[in-house]
Amino acid sequence: MTKPIVVIGSSNVDFIMKMDHLPARDETVTDAEFMQTFGGKGANQAVAAARAGGDVVFVNCVGEDPYADKMVAGFEASGVRTDYVFRETGVASGTALVMIGEGGHNYLSVAPGANRRLTPERVEGLRDLIAGAAYVLMQFEIPRETIECTLDLAAAVGVPVVWNYAPAKPFDRAQLEKVAILIVNEPEASVLTGLEVSDRVSARVATVKLREMGVGTAIVTLGEQGSVVAARETRGGVKHIPAFPVQAIDTTAAGDTYCGCLVVALAEGKALEVAVRFASAAAALCVQKLGAQPSTPWRSEIDAFLKDGV
Ligand code: RIB
Repeated sequence: MTKPIVVIGSSNVDFIMKMDHLPARDETVTDAEFMQTFGGKGANQAVAAARAGGDVVFVNCVGEDPYADKMVAGFEASGVRTDYVFRETGVASGTALVMIGEGGHNYLSVAPGANRRLTPERVEGLRDLIAGAAYVLMQFEIPRETIECTLDLAAAVGVPVVWNYAPAKPFDRAQLEKVAILIVNEPEASVLTGLEVSDRVSARVATVKLREMGVGTAIVTLGEQGSVVAARETRGGVKHIPAFPVQAIDTTAAGDTYCGCLVVALAEGKALEVAVRFASAAAALCVQKLGAQPSTPWRSEIDAFLKDGV
């Protein structure tokens, strides 16, 4: 029996407005398109991993509102195991406001709600689950203490943690030593390294610095410019892996899809470069549709996209 991928993270109800251009301060933009979908970086990554064929256990807290049941049903319909999705009372589910403007790029704000209840105490009770995992996958939309506690726990039982440091927030940098694979975009890489990361050249420098800061493998994602990878195995060798050129209409959850699919490919025993290509293909499919979880591709779609040699 293969070991599961344990995703520990957030879920949100996403309220999306897509418009031709984002409003400037005090400006009102009309003629936007509205959509309510389900998102949250943790949930998006769990859904992406399950749809890509992973055996996924999601650790999460939803709130007491009319959205919670639908959200959980959506996870299950994607094949995510929900035994550890806790239903919290007296609090709303996480909520995100997503504004999508030119080029499909988005502006996001999140009210964590029930995600704040995913405490270290909760994770401490899941030692056996974590010990039996192929990988633990996390983001940063749950409390810092929970992230640090999970890193300690996973290190103690020898399970690799893939951490998507998103969104960027302060934490104990000494914990980076416990991260097997760190995945960041340009602004997140800039916050962590103090370098201005905006292209392939600066991303190369950042990945090397991230490895010096203690992470095993560092990946900087650059959207349409692809990924820069400094792998533990290559001891300082840095590789650029191109993205698939597609027309993006909404980049929401592209990074989440990438992370979830990368871990699935790694759990299947694929080499890191192959896994990055698989993840990039999934992200390329994701950006061509509107919304977070509605745009997450299934395994058959990713395989077909890769087979077509696009
Ligand atoms: O990464 C995209 C996600 O970020 C959205 O689904 C939103 O909920 C926020 O968490």
